[in-house]
Amino acid sequence: MLEHAIRTEQLNLWYGDFQALFDVDLDIKKGIITSLIGPSGCGKSTILRSVNRINERLGYVRIEGSIKVMGEDIYEGGVELVQVRKQVGMVFQRPNPLPLSIRDNVLFGHRLHTTERLTKSAAEEIVETALQQVLLWDKLKDQLDDRATSLSLEEQQKLCIARLLPVKPTVLLMDEPCSALDPKGTEAVEELIWELQGQYTILIVTHNMAQARRASEECIFMLLGKVIEHSRTGEMFVTPKHTETADYIEGRYG
Ligand SMILES: Nc1ncnc2c1ncn2[C@@H]1O[C@H](COP(=O)(O)OP(=O)(O)O)[C@@H](O)[C@H]1O
Ligand SMILES: [Mg+2]
Repeated sequence: MLEHAIRTEQLNLWYGDFQALFDVDLDIKKGIITSLIGPSGCGKSTILRSVNRINERLGYVRIEGSIKVMGEDIYEGGVELVQVRKQVGMVFQRPNPLPLSIRDNVLFGHRLHTTERLTKSAAEEIVETALQQVLLWDKLKDQLDDRATSLSLEEQQKLCIARLLPVKPTVLLMDEPCSALDPKGTEAVEELIWELQGQYTILIVTHNMAQARRASEECIFMLLGKVIEHSRTGEMFVTPKHTETADYIEGRYG
């Protein structure tokens, strides 16, 4: 059985002349939550964006090394972007629901990735299952035709997670998914992420040390484009192997 969902080997990335990642070797275990921490600008979002190939939209990004998702090199010629996006879903800092109904938001990805026409009852089932998974069904089941943008930020972010699920991704990438939310929303979305572990491999970027500690099994600390340490979260916070990690965790980087 494949143990690693994401594996990078000697990953180097440049934005034009600026090198943002240096020899990044990562093994992200399947089915657990891994958090990615480090000071602003250290390359966390760059890594996430490389794993679902968003970076390539920018003409001036150059990548060397390899990134495998479930054993397959996603930058190999012949690998289609839609295939990658099917395996790897992404959630952003600010919830970005489409200006459509709640129902159509949930169905959007699925419609994009399948050619078969859905019957009404099949569509309803997809919507119900996905909203159940993100703990929104009971609250929203009678207002599925409302615009998604009318929801609270917390609900919008949960909906943005929900709309990834019908496509059945293996990996969920989350880039500071709670940073636009108030403490109550943060707690609710964290709880949801926790619920999803096991079913998905989750790689989550967070600025919040308490969140990393509470929510993830493993933790990666980065500094200036390099991975400094990758450990079990409990160990990293109690006995960090590097002084840089200790300094960051204890808040000495500002
Ligand atoms: N689109 C871009 N063009 C040029 N430089 C970028 C771009 N995105 C990020 N960078 C630079 O790459 C480095 C890493 O950025 P990023 O991955 O966004 O860091 P983090 O998410 O850890 O805050 C930073 O120095 C940033 O300025
Ligand atoms: Mg970032």
